[in-house]
Amino acid sequence: MSLLSSEALAQIDREIAKYPPEHKQSAVMSALRIAQVEKGWISPEVIEFVAQYLEMPPIAVYEVATFYNMYDLKPVGRHKITLCTNLPCQLQGAGEIAEHLKKRLGVDFGETTADGRFTLKEGECMGACGDGPLCLHNNHEMHVKLTPEQVDRLLDEMK
Ligand code: FES
Repeated sequence: MSLLSSEALAQIDREIAKYPPEHKQSAVMSALRIAQVEKGWISPEVIEFVAQYLEMPPIAVYEVATFYNMYDLKPVGRHKITLCTNLPCQLQGAGEIAEHLKKRLGVDFGETTADGRFTLKEGECMGACGDGPLCLHNNHEMHVKLTPEQVDRLLDEMK
């Protein structure tokens, strides 16, 4: 049985089809993204599977997975909150938001709450500096111009 579902494989196949057959490795970032959505994180088995599927050395897949911070190389909570802490966001209050998140969740950056609900991560610039402070929810949904009150609302909505 395949490590990934047939739906996930079909998605990866669609990504592979965007490149010439001899460059199927170019789909590695998409394949990792799709695998992470399905499995929750990038385990060594996922690395191995993606490498085999794209016919590339596992170390090359590992290099990509460790270079970009949207990939999780260990299990994360149901809700991963990545707060941008780069300078433009800091100047707009990201420090206060970071403290608020840490206090509310009882965890530091890089940690997961005991109930497995939240993981808090420190992120790099997401290219939306004018809308800071901001965070990404599970790599996909951006929440901008955060205030402590807004953070409280967001956390309450994330079950
Ligand atoms: Fe936060 Fe650019 S510094 S989005």
